[in-house]
Amino acid sequence: MSSIVEVRALTKRFDELVAVNDVSFSIEEGEVFGLLGPNGAGKTTTISMVSCLIEPTSGTIVVNGHDSAREPGALKAALGVVPQEIALYPTLTAAENLRFWGSMYGLRGDALKSAVADALELAGLADRAKERVEKYSGGMKRRINIAAGILHKPRVLLMDEPTVGIDPQSRNHILETVKDLNAAGMTVLYTSHYMEEVEYLCDRIAIMDHGVIIAEGTLNELRDVVGGMDVVAVKVAGVTSEVLERVRAIEGVEGVESVEDALEVLTRSSGSIMGRLVSTLESEGAHVTSVSVTEPNLESVFLHLTGKSLRD
Ligand SMILES: Nc1ncnc2c1ncn2[C@@H]1O[C@H](COP(=O)(O)OP(=O)(O)O)[C@@H](O)[C@H]1O
Ligand SMILES: [Mg+2]
Repeated sequence: MSSIVEVRALTKRFDELVAVNDVSFSIEEGEVFGLLGPNGAGKTTTISMVSCLIEPTSGTIVVNGHDSAREPGALKAALGVVPQEIALYPTLTAAENLRFWGSMYGLRGDALKSAVADALELAGLADRAKERVEKYSGGMKRRINIAAGILHKPRVLLMDEPTVGIDPQSRNHILETVKDLNAAGMTVLYTSHYMEEVEYLCDRIAIMDHGVIIAEGTLNELRDVVGGMDVVAVKVAGVTSEVLERVRAIEGVEGVESVEDALEVLTRSSGSIMGRLVSTLESEGAHVTSVSVTEPNLESVFLHLTGKSLRD
């Protein structure tokens, strides 16, 4: 079976900067595929090339059998795109915005009407369809933006960090919407720097950093990258960068991440480092309030592969 999205050796240069560097992945029909990486990793640049918004420096993109270089029109017809930036007219109502986008996709008459009604329903905003979008919260705008991307019932939906900077309720709504669309058969390419979201949504995940895919697989396959390791979570106050360096130097410590009032230490030998860890922290004047051992997650994978945190 051939994949519905095939990206091969994709590269994008902006002068000296290689924003996307020899990236390859494929997405099977019906999958939710995640592109996880910190700010500047190259996620938006990748999505922009797949949607033919910008031209690759080199490499090939095939969506639904159509090559982006030869048949961009047919390729785009198979795609819905939810960009990071909101693309709505503030002085128009939600319904008017959707009618505008629907007509851009070539929908007319009853087909347009029912597509707009379906999309409003999906966004959970049918009862507020006649309000101007400028009165909407950030989260509601995002939901309408998603509705605009699926009006023409695309085979593949590209979503670029759709939950950044919005309220938890809208965020949950969006995550459930992705689940529902996928259950109805839509293939989704979802980018995020929130590992919880890709863990929750995605069948397969590519982790991206500095324009390169550094790991790819199912959640379980990626967890195997840190197989045999634990995360020791230490609640601690007063951690300075010097303290962090001392902890990093402890034998058996594979990586350290500082998260608000806690440290997360990646190790293969949690039992034997625990004592050293606490005594090092206390001797440096940091105050430990609790220590617990947890399972590694995608954050641990990223930390292990890059030495830094996704949250930075
Ligand atoms: N139009 C552009 N011109 C120059 N540099 C760009 C342009 N677009 C993106 N970049 C750079 O490419 C890199 C990747 O950016 P981007 O794809 O937006 O990352 P992400 O979406 O993962 O945060 C960044 O270093 C960014 O500054
Ligand atoms: Mg981006």
